Amino acid sequence: MKVPFVDLSRQYAPLMDRILDAMKDVIDRCAFINGPEVKEFEERMGAWLGQQVCAVSNCTHAIELTLKALGIGPGDEVITVPNTAFPTCEAIHATGARVVFADIAPGSYNMDPEAAEQAVTEKTKALVPVHLYGIPADMEAIITVARRHGLYVVEDCAQAQGARYRGRRVGTLGIAGCFSFFPSKNLGAFGDGGAMCSGDPDLVRRVRMMANHGREEKFTHVMVGTNSRLDTLKAAQLSICLDALDEWNRKRREAARLYSELLRDYDEIIPPRVPDQCEAVWHLYVIRHERRDALRAFLKEQGIATGLHYPSPLHLQPVYADAGWGEGSLPRAEAACREILSLPMFPGITREEVEAVCRAIGRFLEKG
Ligand SMILES: Cc1ncc(COP(=O)(O)O)c(C=O)c1O
Repeated sequence: MKVPFVDLSRQYAPLMDRILDAMKDVIDRCAFINGPEVKEFEERMGAWLGQQVCAVSNCTHAIELTLKALGIGPGDEVITVPNTAFPTCEAIHATGARVVFADIAPGSYNMDPEAAEQAVTEKTKALVPVHLYGIPADMEAIITVARRHGLYVVEDCAQAQGARYRGRRVGTLGIAGCFSFFPSKNLGAFGDGGAMCSGDPDLVRRVRMMANHGREEKFTHVMVGTNSRLDTLKAAQLSICLDALDEWNRKRREAARLYSELLRDYDEIIPPRVPDQCEAVWHLYVIRHERRDALRAFLKEQGIATGLHYPSPLHLQPVYADAGWGEGSLPRAEAACREILSLPMFPGITREEVEAVCRAIGRFLEKG
């Protein structure tokens, strides 16, 4: 049986008529920029999160504009993890601040609060933990470190829409949370999209101004901003999909539970671990195996698509060749990158497909 890594069409099929009607309505009114659907989406997502939301054009900009709106810029340092998507770092660089990497915690793919604390200097202004794969980072410990050193915590929730930490949705735990609506994310747009949320209405207001050429009124520019608006067409689509998100996340949880159950007896496979205080939303289901590349090649031969998130830790990327990070400097993230494998995961993946993936893994292990 062929198993795709992601199949978006399955999740959209039951909603497509509603989505197309809503998008046609926008087209009929030619309300392409800042149409009422954008505000409506912000309000709906805000109600879902319990905080104010500003929609922007992607998560990279959400992080960049949030950090800038917090006053972070040249001369400052921002700490994040090396096993994230490069955009997390690009957003920090775009402010003019320096990226500082902290290793991941033992038994986790998320920021190690102790390593983050060790990386703090007098220049550090913020921590950007990433809730990688949809599993929340250790926010209590991270916020404790931040408080001790007077730092902001900006959560990268690109992969974790709807995940909870001690019952609270991620994004609402730090000063701000940033979300991606890249099509394959748990809540995806028909194109690029993003948002930030905060319990500080003034921060949301500043980001909104920055994302719209530094203005609140059409021809009055009070700061130098940029163009980072969410298109009305995508806002109309996202509002409809937001209604389905909790159910999509439930389906992901069901698939994750089945993977964990079926892989339980394979000692060589290290399954993902979710701390007790967390509810994951399984953007990705990531296992670990010492012979990851051989396993991946075997699964490919069997028609099973897999992914690597991410194959190389960012501190070892060519762009940081002169930044002083060497091989062995962040050993837990480096080891993870060598062994991780993302299995097919999307709402609508069938029981038979998950079983086929696990059977194929079993065959690989049997043949040795
Ligand atoms: C962890 C993480 N942060 C940031 C981003 C950037 O999101 P966007 O593509 O919406 O700019 C992504 C998307 O790939 C991501 O996975």
